[in-house]
Amino acid sequence: MKILILGAKGNLGVQLMKVFANGNEVIGWDRSEIDITDRELILKKVDDLKPDVIINAAAYNAVDKCEDNDEEYELAKKLNIDGPKFLAEAALNVKAILIHYSSDYVFSGNKEDGYCEDDAPDPINRYGKTKFFGEKKIIELSGKGLKWYLIRTSKLFGPKGESEVSKDSFFDVMLKLSKEKDEINVVDGEKSCFTYTPDLALATRRLVESDRGYGIYHIINSNTCTWYEAVKELFKIKNIQIKVKSIKSEQLDRPAKRPKNSTLLNIKFDQLRSWQEALKEFLK
Ligand SMILES: NC(=O)c1ccc[n+]([C@@H]2O[C@H](COP(=O)([O-])OP(=O)(O)OC[C@H]3O[C@@H](n4cnc5c(N)ncnc54)[C@H](OP(=O)(O)O)[C@@H]3O)[C@@H](O)[C@H]2O)c1
Repeated sequence: MKILILGAKGNLGVQLMKVFANGNEVIGWDRSEIDITDRELILKKVDDLKPDVIINAAAYNAVDKCEDNDEEYELAKKLNIDGPKFLAEAALNVKAILIHYSSDYVFSGNKEDGYCEDDAPDPINRYGKTKFFGEKKIIELSGKGLKWYLIRTSKLFGPKGESEVSKDSFFDVMLKLSKEKDEINVVDGEKSCFTYTPDLALATRRLVESDRGYGIYHIINSNTCTWYEAVKELFKIKNIQIKVKSIKSEQLDRPAKRPKNSTLLNIKFDQLRSWQEALKEFLK
């Protein structure tokens, strides 16, 4: 198959390039090759290439930056709403399958026992709203025959991408802090599932090669936890003896509200291994 990957230098994009390489013709584009907010360019370049599958791993992910800065919010809307819409139109034109990633932040987190694929999104911050509206743009083109997979995921961690916008994973940040401080404060809340980018990339390949129906999928590593529980596990594995103090979400003065429990439930796809197992591999 001819596979086009957007955001190819991002944290997830780099892993997708690796996983799809074997047995496929893979083309990776990042912002330097194409700006996904440029509709004419997207339609032309995709029509020239005629891929069988388009995977969009490009996105605006700065949750707090767009919450209290209108210019950043405009950029987030362009990247997370217009970008997926233009890619969906381009995919439809060349009869390609479109795979797009969304986030647990499309949900408010007010539901006690987590969210399954069919639950109605109700975002509580601007980033979440842009990811939700991006989802809707893709689903709207189903009626015109678009073949699509929408994969919601959460709390990505793994080898850092080659992109300047790619964030260090939570675990990298905590390991760095553990070398600088004797005590760190970590939120014991905001429950959701950590997801190892190599596992998510592999699961994406298995999904597109399976005969499962098009639609929304929740793909995350198993077991939900808070940030505090995650760092305790990290320091246990790494045998790091520093004091970890649990704090409330509100004590971290961040512009964007976070869902209390945005655990994604994977009802439709194979269960992935636990984040604890994936973390052990990552740290090795
Ligand atoms: N990170 C998480 O914890 C998390 C959680 C839930 C869902 N997700 C979703 O998972 C997907 C992958 O996230 P990630 O963490 O791998 O992202 P990332 O590392 O931040 O990478 C984003 C990529 O998008 C590219 N990009 C930015 N603006 C662009 C533009 N105008 N045109 C084309 N490409 C552009 C960047 O390219 P440059 O290198 O050129 O800037 C970068 O390679 C996204 O849909 C994200 O919303 C992530």
